[in-house]
Amino acid sequence: MATGLTNVLEEWKCLEEDYQQLQETHRLYLQKLDEISKLQKSCSSSISNQRKRLKEVSHCVIKKCSTGPSDEDDKTLEEIKAKIKTRPNSFSEMEACLPKKNGLYLSLVLGNVNVTFLSKQSKFGYKDEYEKFKLYLTVLLLLFSFMCYFFVSYRFLDAILNFLLVWYYCTLTIRESILITNGSRIKGWWVFHHYVSAFLSGVMLTWPDGNLYKIFRNQFLAYSLYQSFVQCLQCYYQSGCLYRLRALGERHNMDLTVEGFQSWMWKGLTFLLPFLFFGHFWQLFNSVSLFRMAQLPDCKEWQVLMCGLCFLVLFMGNFSTTVAVVRQKMKSRSQKKSL
Ligand code: COA
Repeated sequence: MATGLTNVLEEWKCLEEDYQQLQETHRLYLQKLDEISKLQKSCSSSISNQRKRLKEVSHCVIKKCSTGPSDEDDKTLEEIKAKIKTRPNSFSEMEACLPKKNGLYLSLVLGNVNVTFLSKQSKFGYKDEYEKFKLYLTVLLLLFSFMCYFFVSYRFLDAILNFLLVWYYCTLTIRESILITNGSRIKGWWVFHHYVSAFLSGVMLTWPDGNLYKIFRNQFLAYSLYQSFVQCLQCYYQSGCLYRLRALGERHNMDLTVEGFQSWMWKGLTFLLPFLFFGHFWQLFNSVSLFRMAQLPDCKEWQVLMCGLCFLVLFMGNFSTTVAVVRQKMKSRSQKKSL
């Protein structure tokens, strides 16, 4: 046999052996996947079964308590009551790593695909990627509005900016719904805020290029510029929180204490707040300017009033939610200090 062919045959034999190994590993992988999906189903059904039985047992306990039990029975019943109280939390913790049914919005947008992450690491990874996505898009929007404000004044470029804004906010609503499914504590208002902002940018997109549009254009572009700048600061703060929280969870990564995290968060927040509140009042200013414009006799466009309303809703929601978040953080900070 020619030496060239012998080499080929040897190489082929080696490849065949590797292929057999690969097939075996893949078979094992499929078997484990099957086992995992069976375990997931069994855990989910056990949890719902446990919940049902727990409800029945707690009814019985309440009944027994009301019929005046002896001292010893009373002690046992109290112990059971205390355990019953802690069970729902433990079920929720278990459910955090089990597949869930999607809510209405995700079912409509994505269909019935599983979006639950099975480990904390992948949850952090997704959130990290979400913050990066926000930052990159915000920088792009900042550059775009800068260009439109200072250098070029074409209606079609403004339309591209508004289209980008619509797309950005719509994408955020999907990503945030996935984060919420995975246990994120994002307040409902911020998600609603992104729906309102998407709608507002959509309305701006349809505003015809008339006299009134030209009057409001610069104010809107300056506001967009400022908002992108504040969002960059906010992204920096929020990814800082995420990074420190992850380090707290892992510990070996960075020597960080809970107090260290708290004080960093507090410093970041007090730096950010004046910029945020200034942005909120700019929204109010936009809304007042548009309401005034809507009263002009030559105002025929419905977009003026609609944008004014959107800015007002944004101002009220942003301002009240930010104040509530700060109050809540101040309260928990003073509670921790007094402990
Ligand atoms: N958008 C998206 N997610 C937000 C959010 C926002 N505006 N504000 C908070 N979250 C998320 C956090 O990342 C956190 O998620 P996690 O549970 O997955 O970790 C969760 O909601 C709870 O956050 P919370 O502790 O309440 O607040 P925070 O310390 O992360 O942020 C603020 C506090 C005030 C800085 C933040 O809410 C904020 O930036 N608000 C102002 C937004 C605004 O007004 N924008 C317009 C500017 S003109």
